[in-house]
Amino acid sequence: MSSARRLLLVCLGLLATACAAVAQDQSEPRYVYAPERSIDGGTGMFYMGRETSGVMGHLAAEWLERPTRTHEEMPDEVVENMALRPTDVVADIGAGSGYFTFRIAAKVPQGKVLAVDIQPEMLAMVEARRLNENVSNVEGVLGDLQSTNLPPDSVDVAFLVDAYHEFSHPYEMMQSIFTALKPGGRLILVEYRGEDRNVPIRPLHKMTQAQVKREMAVFDLQFEETLDFLPWQHMMIFSKR
Ligand SMILES: C[S@@+](CC[C@H](N)C(=O)[O-])C[C@H]1O[C@@H](n2cnc3c(N)ncnc32)[C@H](O)[C@@H]1O
Repeated sequence: MSSARRLLLVCLGLLATACAAVAQDQSEPRYVYAPERSIDGGTGMFYMGRETSGVMGHLAAEWLERPTRTHEEMPDEVVENMALRPTDVVADIGAGSGYFTFRIAAKVPQGKVLAVDIQPEMLAMVEARRLNENVSNVEGVLGDLQSTNLPPDSVDVAFLVDAYHEFSHPYEMMQSIFTALKPGGRLILVEYRGEDRNVPIRPLHKMTQAQVKREMAVFDLQFEETLDFLPWQHMMIFSKR
């Protein structure tokens, strides 16, 4: 990318941050659009200084199920650290092929997992596995770009792995997630560490803790803690006040 284009994107990022601050109670634009998207999967749309990434299409679902993922992302340890109760209702938002969905389902035998995604093809993979493994506490939910389509106060834990950074409407999605959480419910965000150049993931698919906190601060969420045991990701936990 040329330095002029990079400078333009940085300026747009700063403008988006300023607009987002004003937009909380005014009619300034929440999102700012660059004339060109960044290489490496950017959308050209900025929210609070961050360019959102494109959505991972269902044709790449095999990558989500890659065998190396067990040591790269330690899914069993992630689920262990969610501190779930057997009765919890968990929304796996941006569930993809269900890589985490079924691990979570095993931990909430009297609860359920709502696998939310915008791609019907992803939900079809979840449903195929549900039938194949005869799992009774997983339900697919077709969301849209701006909503989880979950009812208010219906979820104990909203869980997002490698998904939030690719929301095309992060504000509206978070509003929907916030509304779906029960009071005291928890939001668990797992994102690749944006602070760490050694994490071998494209920059727009990573987030820094500071950026996550900035974007969550728009909602009445309390930051609880970051668990840093993962090789590549942060596991950040918030609760609904
Ligand atoms: C990189 S995949 C991660 C899938 C899964 N969480 C995992 O870790 O295996 C991101 C998923 O988020 C979904 N997604 C993107 N925008 C969404 C939105 N607004 N609402 C729900 N899902 C969304 C995509 O369709 C995709 O399946």
